[in-house]
Amino acid sequence: MFAAKGLDEKDMVVLSGAHTIGRSGCSSFSTASIEPVLGNQLNQTCGMPVNAATTVPQDFKSPDALDVQYYRNIQSRDVLFNSDATLVTSARTKRLVDFYAGNRLLFGALFGPAVWYQDFGKAMVKMGYIGVKTDPKEGEIRKKCGYVNPKPNPY
Ligand code: HEM
Repeated sequence: MFAAKGLDEKDMVVLSGAHTIGRSGCSSFSTASIEPVLGNQLNQTCGMPVNAATTVPQDFKSPDALDVQYYRNIQSRDVLFNSDATLVTSARTKRLVDFYAGNRLLFGALFGPAVWYQDFGKAMVKMGYIGVKTDPKEGEIRKKCGYVNPKPNPY
């Protein structure tokens, strides 16, 4: 799906790092393949049956910080979605996860995390150019990105 939008494997790993912030509804994931300590905590918070209205932080270690903790959470299987956990199931994407997590040294220094901020910025700009509508004939151009435009009052 990323390829269909002109994004490559690296963009996919880089952009997934956005899951270092924000929350998820309890019904958006299964705890089956999550590391058991976190999994049990999530089961407690979400309830059984799952309360669909309850939300949990995506990055339980630093929920509000835009940092590389997400990649460390993948390594310890402390991530919510299959799309997160799956990034270490191929050797090529795992290399990137380990790099951004800061597990690779270059000249004795941890430099992956700093590179992630650069790469994330670039990939966000790249994503921002995908399918940009410039004419209302191409579809609705939202005035506020998170909402469909209000319909004109018919009365
Ligand atoms: C790999 C494909 C992706 C999948 C399958 C995915 C899936 C999800 C899911 C299921 C949620 C929780 C939604 C909810 O329960 O409310 C979520 C939240 C979020 N996603 Fe993704 N996502 C993907 C890629 C991305 C990308 C590329 C970005 C941005 C660069 C992103 C940024 C976010 C953010 C910021 C949240 C938190 C939203 C909030 O706090 O309300 N995700 N994602």
